[in-house]
Amino acid sequence: MTCTVVVGGQWGDEGKGKITDILAEGADLVVRYQGGSNAGHTVVVGDEEFKLHLIPSGILHHDCTCLMGGGTVVDPLVLRDEITGLQARGVSCDNLRVSYTAHVVMPYHKRIEEQAEQARGRAGIGTTLRGIGPAYTDKAQRMPRPVRFRDLTDPDRLRELIAGQLEHKNVIIEHQYGQPPLSSDEVFAQVWPAAQEVGNYATDGYRLVQDSLRAGKRIVFEGAQGTFLDLDCGTYPFVTSSHPVAGGACLGTGIGPTAINEVIMICKAYTTRVGAGVLPTEDEGDAGQLLRDCGNEYGTTTGRPRRCGWLDGVVVRTAAMLNGATSIAVTKLDVLDALATIPVCVGYEIDGVMLDTMPSWPEELEKVKPIYEEIPGWQQPLGDMREWEQLPPQAQAYVEKIAELAGVPVKIVSLGQSREQTVFIG
Ligand code: IMP
Repeated sequence: MTCTVVVGGQWGDEGKGKITDILAEGADLVVRYQGGSNAGHTVVVGDEEFKLHLIPSGILHHDCTCLMGGGTVVDPLVLRDEITGLQARGVSCDNLRVSYTAHVVMPYHKRIEEQAEQARGRAGIGTTLRGIGPAYTDKAQRMPRPVRFRDLTDPDRLRELIAGQLEHKNVIIEHQYGQPPLSSDEVFAQVWPAAQEVGNYATDGYRLVQDSLRAGKRIVFEGAQGTFLDLDCGTYPFVTSSHPVAGGACLGTGIGPTAINEVIMICKAYTTRVGAGVLPTEDEGDAGQLLRDCGNEYGTTTGRPRRCGWLDGVVVRTAAMLNGATSIAVTKLDVLDALATIPVCVGYEIDGVMLDTMPSWPEELEKVKPIYEEIPGWQQPLGDMREWEQLPPQAQAYVEKIAELAGVPVKIVSLGQSREQTVFIG
């Protein structure tokens, strides 16, 4: 049995989709453990690009079962469109399953989130507006009982749950946001056609995972977003509402921590973030724009330009600790090909004191001054290189610097979007 967790080591968009797809080759089960359609995972096969929001990135491997775990939140309309889109391109989704207990993102969640973000104005979180926060809020609220995935298979129950939710939601929609109330019949009519299609994928997710464990199967747990968007461990309140850290795989799928053998932390060769919140190495000038252009740093889900900056060694080191990372996959190293030297943040200074891990209090993090070291660049294209030994010494040194800062070995280096543009070390 091997249980591998794939986790984002920064603020999301590290390239988890590509690495999960590679690891899915030879895996029996790939499980998304948290988040919803706020995620955008890109997998490139030959000339074809697949953008996945909900479906696990193992879906292109037909012999591998793909499960959306109980810790995810599922928008049935998005799921239906994603399944139809894949099927139209010849990808069968027969190997897809969704946990009975996953909570469902409903139209009223999106409506409330839009209104809430609008009301916050410039002080907003900058969410993806996919209804994620309100869906997880209802999950924590517990009553009135929110809709869970298995409820989509029972129209009477679904109607009843929608009516129960709208009694409360309409008070907020009407009186807090001054918007017309939602009709229970209309919401049902909107969701039911999709529910009939996606309900067929419902399964006892905890049992599937436990049976696979007992049978000694190879399981990959796929995280969405990244360590510092974690509700507990991230840069709160500018975080998502779930647990992207490796520990989230336990909560979101029903495995114990001792079942995990391997935690592969995905780390982009520089830093990006979407939405509001602190980003110590952000470059709002030419360098940031260069990284954005060369790395095509625009959101897969929202199309928003990502905020960009140099690699932050303090972020990577802290993330390695929070996740118990056993190895690192460095992605998008090729984006740095043209640079003569590359600044890397090796520590923070705050009020004359040096720090080598991130302070957890946001106001302190706002005050840190990143200390940079200039690393020589390689100034040649890496995209066609397939072996570690082929990489120029400067590129090897850059990768080794990341390993040194994190205190964890780098085992995979990604040099482009395609599966082939991947170097395995050791
Ligand atoms: P939410 O997850 O839509 O509630 O958004 C909360 C924060 O997480 C915002 O700053 C989003 O931009 C960010 N976020 C959510 N999903 C992703 C992702 O997949 N990649 C990067 N940032 C994300």
